[in-house]
Amino acid sequence: MLEKMGEFFDSRLSGYEEHQLTCIDSAQVFYPFTANCLPQVPGTRLLDLGCGTGLELGYYFEMVPSAEIMGIDLAPGMLNELHSKFPDKIMTLVLGSYFDVPFGENAYDAAVSVESLHHFTKEEKIPLYGKLRKALKQGGYFILTDYFAMSEEEELFHRAELHRLKKEQNIADEAFYHYDTPLTVEHEKEALINAGFSSVTVLKSWGATYVLKAVR
Ligand SMILES: C[S@@+](CC[C@H](N)C(=O)[O-])C[C@H]1O[C@@H](n2cnc3c(N)ncnc32)[C@H](O)[C@@H]1O
Repeated sequence: MLEKMGEFFDSRLSGYEEHQLTCIDSAQVFYPFTANCLPQVPGTRLLDLGCGTGLELGYYFEMVPSAEIMGIDLAPGMLNELHSKFPDKIMTLVLGSYFDVPFGENAYDAAVSVESLHHFTKEEKIPLYGKLRKALKQGGYFILTDYFAMSEEEELFHRAELHRLKKEQNIADEAFYHYDTPLTVEHEKEALINAGFSSVTVLKSWGATYVLKAVR
């Protein structure tokens, strides 16, 4: 049975972080690596898309304790957990979809998203990435750490499967239900470039997990 996106994560809150760190290949390396790719400057303003309980933020706060975070997530339980983990940090946490929440313009030194954007199509991502690009300051950049389809066939297979399951369960196509539909790295890069980012580079990869850097 497909589950609504926010409910899927909230119902797995207990044990969520342990699962992420122990069941996802190389997670104990890619979280600190991701944090290290972000600006190492006191007071950095950072936007986190799908921040969850803030695994990446925990590593980042160790490096830049004075960072100012705007975190967006659909799951209220994940945001409550994040808030209680870091009560003294400067964080604005917004409950909602990053497709709908306004980001503002020229507001952030950098943005990050870890293990969240593999649920959406290239067509859905282009306007999101356009909004994200505008939210970054001059010279700002976006670090995307996520897992990707290893071929177009795999990408198409997951997308068709989600479509089939939604149809079977009478769920509207545009509703957010949890089902992984990763793009290939090439399609992800195309979405970022189509949205106006000036360059996209692969910084590192471990199996299907890649860290991409998109410069405003
Ligand atoms: C696997 S968790 C990753 C959380 C955190 N970044 C980490 O790596 O531990 C994916 C998160 O993305 C959030 N999410 C998925 N789609 C979203 C959307 N459209 N808007 C906001 N948050 C979303 C989920 O609620 C969930 O908390």
